[in-house]
Amino acid sequence: MCGIVGAIGTQNAESILLDGLKRLEYRGYDSAGMATLDAHQTHIRKAVGKLGALASLLKERPCPGSVGIAHTRWASHGRPNEINAHPHQFGPITIVHNGIIENHAALKKDLLAQGHQFESDTDTEIVAHLIAQFKKEYPTDFPKAVSKALELIHGAYALAILDQDSPDTLIGVRQACPLVVGLGNGENFLASDFPAVLSHTRRFMVLEDGDMAILHKDRVQVQNIHGEIQTRTPITLDWSPATAEKGGFKHFMLKEIFEQPQAVIDTLRGRFSLGDLELVLEGLQTDLLKNIQQITIVACGTSYHAGLIAKRLIEELAQIPVEVDLASEFRYRNPLIRTSHLVIGISQSGETADTLAALVLAKSKNAQLVALCNVVDSAIARLCNTSAGTFYTRAGPEISVASTKALLTQIIALYLLALLLAQQRGLLHAQTLEKHLDSLYQLPLLLEAALKQEPEIRQTAKRLAQSENILLMGRGLLHVAALEGALKIKELSYIHAEGYPAGEMKHGPIALIDEKMPVLVLAIQGMNYEKTLSNLEEIKSRGAQVFVVCNETDHELRQAYPNALLIPTCSPYLVPALAVLPLQLLAYHLADLRGLDVDQPRNLAKSVTIE
Ligand code: F6R
Repeated sequence: MCGIVGAIGTQNAESILLDGLKRLEYRGYDSAGMATLDAHQTHIRKAVGKLGALASLLKERPCPGSVGIAHTRWASHGRPNEINAHPHQFGPITIVHNGIIENHAALKKDLLAQGHQFESDTDTEIVAHLIAQFKKEYPTDFPKAVSKALELIHGAYALAILDQDSPDTLIGVRQACPLVVGLGNGENFLASDFPAVLSHTRRFMVLEDGDMAILHKDRVQVQNIHGEIQTRTPITLDWSPATAEKGGFKHFMLKEIFEQPQAVIDTLRGRFSLGDLELVLEGLQTDLLKNIQQITIVACGTSYHAGLIAKRLIEELAQIPVEVDLASEFRYRNPLIRTSHLVIGISQSGETADTLAALVLAKSKNAQLVALCNVVDSAIARLCNTSAGTFYTRAGPEISVASTKALLTQIIALYLLALLLAQQRGLLHAQTLEKHLDSLYQLPLLLEAALKQEPEIRQTAKRLAQSENILLMGRGLLHVAALEGALKIKELSYIHAEGYPAGEMKHGPIALIDEKMPVLVLAIQGMNYEKTLSNLEEIKSRGAQVFVVCNETDHELRQAYPNALLIPTCSPYLVPALAVLPLQLLAYHLADLRGLDVDQPRNLAKSVTIE
């Protein structure tokens, strides 16, 4: 949830840390802070609000030194104010933290009984006290003091720690919260996420749970809390720093919406061998999928919507029954899972706490697990790699809190998985497979065509920008697109929006319809079209303001609704991928017209690593 950056080298750390925080701001943004070490002195600066507040403070009072740690906070313990902002210091120890120390209350009670006093309401400050306490026992062994403190704490955390008495050392610890080590030349880095330090290095070591990384400017050692050396093989990322920038767009979200054609190309790349008509889903132990009799998909938010689309694809193509569950429900309902079950976890970040917990539960019931993730080597990916494997979406870094290109690539990856399962069961003739792949390979061009409508979509957004409610209706896979459109509108524009199956209209929501209610109907030929047209008539006759998403070849609807949002004609399985695109743009422009913070909507964070 929060963002951590650390740096140790010979350059001034302040600018590296501030730049890193800017790139991590999406992880949390109620306050930010930084600490550096210089001549055995710790310099701490903190500010509430956006990063600009910290940047202004640093102009007045710079942080000197070439080793430091920094943090953006999304409050989980204590109000978002300057005292609770990280870093937290006690004695020589300064610390930043992402996650939750679950036994913080008991630890605090013990420390209070020993006479300790606390400044903040955070669980983090307790860790600083514990380490400082052990430093008294091991005054020249900073890593040992950290290890001893770690033996006492339970929970999910990533920590970056400085010791005023060891200015040539920076320590990072990972336990169920993301933390990577960036390997530079004469300098090394810590970060919650790769983009934070991509402008300094592309070589990373991904830490595992229980790892403690001891960074010096010229070397890094990873050990566990018992001091045993751990080998972590560095990986090299081909993401350029520019990939993680806005690239000329007003917001990351708009940039990411426009990246979708390329993202789909990247997802498809190399995953099909033309010669022998074979699907190449690297990362999956496909043999383990041959005898699967039932599938459950677990996910949250937008990723859950990808799961709803996958249900239709897998059931129709591979004839395997599929259940889709919200991970937050699945994990608490004692689900019926058998060994012949495959449980698929879908998660852009790969760190979503509920999805991870749902998969851990499924594993305890001996199901096969598959992860569909975007972030490489994330917690969910690593869990599933101990089972049937992880398939990556390759959407590239998604910075905007609202998920867009991740969804598109999830749909494509799940389509490929459905084809593989169908092929394994002898249900897919070569010719049919070729047809499916043809339509997949055409999708980027169709997405490009759909994106050209952005100016018209902004006009539609202008008509809707003052609305208090919007109803979105569709049938079948278009109902899923309506659900996703409503989620995007809610989270970005703060307009109340509901996605509803159009066939359910008469069972309740029709009561909401009057001239004040804008209703957006998704009516695509070949997809229960006539039934949807009847719903459209019923809505219109009640005086509602009607908006339509239809095919560009649908001359009748275009004549009746000249401002209709248009999508190119494509295979029914790909319609939801195309239909969500104008809805993403609509939500984006509604938020932008209402002057809202598009990339960081209120109360939301990109990785929901706690419940
Ligand atoms: C909506 C959105 C969220 C995420 C959800 C799951 O735009 O971004 O609903 O889809 O929090 O996140 P991941 O996919 O990272 O597990």
